[in-house]
Amino acid sequence: MSATTIHRFDPTLHREGIIRLWQSVLGYQSAHNEPNLVIDQKLALNDGLFFAATCEGQVIGSIMAGYDGHRGWLYSLAVAPEHRHRRLGTELVLAAEKALIQRGCLKINLQIQEGNESVQAFYASLGYDVEVRVSMGKRIPPAASRHRALADIGGLIEVTPADEIWIKTSDQSTTYLNDLTPFILQVTQWLQDGQLFYGLCGPVVSGPERYQGLLCSLIVRIDGCDWRQESRSAANFKVGPKPAHRNHSFALGHPGGTLIDGYPVIGRYGSTRD
Ligand SMILES: CC(C)(COP(=O)(O)OP(=O)(O)OC[C@H]1O[C@@H](n2cnc3c(N)ncnc32)[C@H](O)[C@@H]1OP(=O)(O)O)[C@@H](O)C(=O)NCCC(=O)NCCS
Repeated sequence: MSATTIHRFDPTLHREGIIRLWQSVLGYQSAHNEPNLVIDQKLALNDGLFFAATCEGQVIGSIMAGYDGHRGWLYSLAVAPEHRHRRLGTELVLAAEKALIQRGCLKINLQIQEGNESVQAFYASLGYDVEVRVSMGKRIPPAASRHRALADIGGLIEVTPADEIWIKTSDQSTTYLNDLTPFILQVTQWLQDGQLFYGLCGPVVSGPERYQGLLCSLIVRIDGCDWRQESRSAANFKVGPKPAHRNHSFALGHPGGTLIDGYPVIGRYGSTRD
């Protein structure tokens, strides 16, 4: 039998496989469970509590945990049907438990959805008891979850190009495309040069295919708006494989004032909405 390994989730290696697994096993369909969004929001926390199991390079299992400093929670446990009953589910739970315990966790909770009660037997074999609780939840509509400032880490920003975008490819050519379709990035870092804050950066999490898998840098405009305090502005955007860094040959507000290493690089200015 081929070896199965449990790894810390790596977006480059595991993203596609995890999405396929969740869609087939957990049926994640609703907007707040959109797998790419779930993955990017978890990665933005950088808490090391997301695991993927692989066999011959294929993702066959997953588990996520959350930790509030006291209690831990388990989520998104899934094993591909053809790999079940070989203790992989058990090993995934033990891996997540170990990571929680290392952080000082004193209690681990989980929820089982209505209709999936038979899985209690699995958790019972791992020492989990049924605790009588009423589980309540509240959906936060996207408008209400808006962040105070555009620059909040983890926040989602919609960018709408205001004019035709330019696309630079590795053969040094530049093409222009009149596609003003918006895309969304999730802020994972601030762009800073010493004390100078010059923008935001994070992965594109939805929008046209050309932006997928790339990072979007939003660069402060010449008006010098500070997104750490303000929440609405226009921005220069540059999308590419790396965050934009300063090019000191030009002033920051100049189109050449920042550069992205690698290709493709897609850019323009546009309006932003958090
Ligand atoms: C639950 C799940 C992760 C278990 O994975 P697994 O790799 O088969 O688990 P293990 O091999 O470690 O343990 C299997 C044992 O757990 C028990 N078990 C597992 N799933 C069970 C279920 N749905 N109903 C009853 N018992 C179950 C059985 O005793 C089984 O023993 P067996 O192999 O002798 O039949 C897998 O069935 C799965 O992905 N289910 C769908 C997603 C899901 O329900 N996730 C949990 C959400 S709370």
